[in-house]
Amino acid sequence: MAFSPDLSKSTKLERYNSYLRRVNNTKLLAASSKLLFRVTLLVALLLVFFFTLNYPIGGGGGQNASIHTTSRFFSSGFYGTGAAWEKQVRQSSTPRRPNGFSILVTGAAGFVGTHCSLALRKRGDGVLGLDNFNSYYDPSLKRARQNLLSRNQIFTVEADLNDTPMLNKLFDIVPFTHVLHLAAQAGVRYAMKNPQSYVQSNIAGFINLLEVAKAAVPQPAIVWASSSSVYGLNKDNPFSEMDRTDQPASLYAATKKAGEEIAHTYNHIYGLSLTGLRFFTVYGPWGRPDMAYFFFTKDILQGKPINIYKTHDGTEVARDFTYVDDIVKGCVGALDTAEKSTGSGGKKRGPAQLRVYNLGNTSPVGVGRLVSILEGLLNVKAKKHVITMPRNGDVPFTHANVTLAHKDFAYKPTTDLATGLRKFVKWYVSYYGVQPKVKKDTPSEAE
Ligand SMILES: NC(=O)c1ccc[n+]([C@@H]2O[C@H](COP(=O)([O-])OP(=O)(O)OC[C@H]3O[C@@H](n4cnc5c(N)ncnc54)[C@H](O)[C@@H]3O)[C@@H](O)[C@H]2O)c1
Repeated sequence: MAFSPDLSKSTKLERYNSYLRRVNNTKLLAASSKLLFRVTLLVALLLVFFFTLNYPIGGGGGQNASIHTTSRFFSSGFYGTGAAWEKQVRQSSTPRRPNGFSILVTGAAGFVGTHCSLALRKRGDGVLGLDNFNSYYDPSLKRARQNLLSRNQIFTVEADLNDTPMLNKLFDIVPFTHVLHLAAQAGVRYAMKNPQSYVQSNIAGFINLLEVAKAAVPQPAIVWASSSSVYGLNKDNPFSEMDRTDQPASLYAATKKAGEEIAHTYNHIYGLSLTGLRFFTVYGPWGRPDMAYFFFTKDILQGKPINIYKTHDGTEVARDFTYVDDIVKGCVGALDTAEKSTGSGGKKRGPAQLRVYNLGNTSPVGVGRLVSILEGLLNVKAKKHVITMPRNGDVPFTHANVTLAHKDFAYKPTTDLATGLRKFVKWYVSYYGVQPKVKKDTPSEAE
């Protein structure tokens, strides 16, 4: 009988071997996927830890990310805070006059912040700037202002108001006597596009700053920018600090009003000295491109039509335009008369000062008149479209009563709109290098 191999046995063996191979492969695959999963998890945890450390929740991101991207990647977390950096912070904050202040100016690369920082530095106070350089309007203008500050020995820290570790660090390095808090999401109309940015900066950011300031030793006195927009639909004229402010017409106004209430709380609980300043339509050189006088100038020069609003009952929209130098004088006056905070390390030791003031020009001007002054200065006829004001948060008129600021720190605006706009136009054409048909007889101004 011919030998016939037991085929069924060898097939079984082969099947068994292939089964073992499959099992081994599967085990190997499972083990390597487990390893991969663990490594990924570890990397993810490390990343979460890293970002939480550098950018605490609410740190200028979220909905606001679209306008805050540069700040997130250029802020302290990425660029470190070494010895050279600390030296700059100290030097910038050190007063150069006897009994000079050491002031943290938030929003220093902003329009009003730049002017205030320069004025304070000029008289010998120590000034440290802080700004997140967000892109709500052209950040290159903020960079140019930062360069101007830097040429005047003012260092600007690039950080968000919500960056708690950074604020703590600054207060650890410098015993600030004052904070001039001007950083905010400004603009009335943009609130309909990006409401969260107002919450992030004007509410969360303000609270974060107050939290750090209340715990600081010594506690600084704080002067901060509220806004005339808190008067909202107020009908009394001119607007006095005693008038009602519970009818805001925009989310911007509502966040500024909320700021006033928040200020009350921190004053009441922690003894922080707090002064809110209600600015009325500030304009001038280095101004804000989102404001009418600025974009009217741009559009008139480019031959583009401009929209001039009339109110729903057909009257002209008017504003109490206030020249920036007058606002600076008001801010300095408020800082000079601010009493010390009474708390220390988060504990109140007695009642502290709590104030609110209007800072305006006291003479409202119709937008039509604003445009005709610009036409005269630019020597170009504007293409005007008069339209009914859309319901976008704008109010029909503003008019400041400044009696209180005058009484307490001799605030007295001195620049009329024509004079102030002449200075603005002079700066505008030089900054943007435009060759306007500006009248030759425009007197030159010493800035
Ligand atoms: N200009 C006006 O007519 C006017 C009127 C009323 C009130 N105000 C208030 O005065 C202050 C200064 O206004 P401005 O015209 O100079 O505006 P601005 O926008 O030029 O300046 C504000 C600066 O704050 C910075 N900033 C915003 N959010 C920040 C954040 N979370 N962290 C760090 N920096 C941040 C911005 O980058 C900007 O440089 C603001 O509080 C504004 O609401 C201005």
